[in-house]
Amino acid sequence: MGDVSRNTQDQDAAPAATSADGEGAAVRGSFHESAGTSPDERWMNAAISDGRRGHPSPNPHVGAAVVKDGVLLSVAHHETAGTDHAELAALKAAGDAARGATLYVTLEPCNHTGRTPPCTDAILAAGISRVVFGCEDPNPHVEGKGADKLRAAGVEVQGGVLRDEARGLIAPWTKHVTRGLPYISLKLALSLDGRIATRSGSSKWITGEQARARVHALRAKHDAVAIGIGTALADDPRLTVRDAEGTSPVRVIFDTSLRLPMASKLVASAADVPTWIIASTDASPSTEEALTTRGVEVLRVPASAEGRIEPLPALRMLAARGIVTLMVEGGAELAGSLLAGQLADELHAFLAPVLLGPRGRPGAVDWAGPSTPAEAPRIGNARWELCGSDAYVHGPLVYPERA
Ligand SMILES: NC(=O)c1ccc[n+]([C@@H]2O[C@H](COP(=O)([O-])OP(=O)(O)OC[C@H]3O[C@@H](n4cnc5c(N)ncnc54)[C@H](OP(=O)(O)O)[C@@H]3O)[C@@H](O)[C@H]2O)c1
Repeated sequence: MGDVSRNTQDQDAAPAATSADGEGAAVRGSFHESAGTSPDERWMNAAISDGRRGHPSPNPHVGAAVVKDGVLLSVAHHETAGTDHAELAALKAAGDAARGATLYVTLEPCNHTGRTPPCTDAILAAGISRVVFGCEDPNPHVEGKGADKLRAAGVEVQGGVLRDEARGLIAPWTKHVTRGLPYISLKLALSLDGRIATRSGSSKWITGEQARARVHALRAKHDAVAIGIGTALADDPRLTVRDAEGTSPVRVIFDTSLRLPMASKLVASAADVPTWIIASTDASPSTEEALTTRGVEVLRVPASAEGRIEPLPALRMLAARGIVTLMVEGGAELAGSLLAGQLADELHAFLAPVLLGPRGRPGAVDWAGPSTPAEAPRIGNARWELCGSDAYVHGPLVYPERA
């Protein structure tokens, strides 16, 4: 944090973060205005790029830059909950030179005391003369926004610079604080004919090493990863981060009647990696006890009319336990429930150049689906990349019925 010389390529973008170029030019200290981009937008871009770094959950991703006379003094981000907010980190890195400078920050500075003191106090103490922020604070629980306090103290304040991009950076956190739900990324590994397993139910491995490493990097960016019990029984997965840097997220299994085998890899490693089963209120207490002694936590929600876990109460429970970002890794039935409820926010699909045929799972996502293509959820602003010999398409999901 607070490093003026860093020129990072952000390969592990935060969930939902919209792409922003230009960080390299910005952090090298000199810049030339390009057509259609104002200096304010370019410095905000630098703050947004840096803001994608770190894992600040349950706090939002925020980036900040301190600029004086067209020269970048510092750029920083909020790394993890409990550490300096981005503004404070950037101000500390700029030191006394920040007096009279402009502070660019992706989110309106806070004016309340949480785990750290209000950022507005630090901004005033540093003698910043102008503050430019990207988007307003959507947190309904925060009283008194920072911009008013700064203006009252004589600081020039401008909001809304690259507002959409700045909002994209905090989309998971916004969903969590405004709706009490986790932001859901749905991951699928598909064959060219749209299948997620062979006729024997096997899915190891459809995609290649590079795609799998990318999935591990994605896991490390999420607070929790979830599967249905069908996948746990078919694949006996570990769901840990092994082929990328970072910490393994909480593992969540949707398992109405506690069918997860005691001999499964998930149970065997539950003492080391947090493992939560979401079961119905009717599931066996003695099985719960056996799981609990092995380190698994069993959370209970009522079963739906079809005798399955109701997704909404389950997701609310996860959000209340601090899960801001949830990556759902299948299988088809769980993915189908979430799409049917329009609960998935992003899609991450890895498409392998293989054909698996129609005898296995009926398709990647088991749900009724739309009646016309125009009603289909689709990735808005889809980004296609190559991962070895697999294609990787990802981006936020748009539900036309909702629009
Ligand atoms: N290629 C890939 O990316 C990928 C990823 C994952 C899995 N797979 C493959 O997919 C297959 C498993 O998929 P699947 O569709 O059979 O199983 P699944 O979606 O993993 O699990 C479905 C089961 O989860 C439980 N469940 C509880 N609440 C649910 C809810 N609200 N919605 C949906 N399910 C709920 C239900 O069992 P209970 O009623 O007993 O709780 C349900 O039968 C395997 O062959 C696996 O290899 C492929």
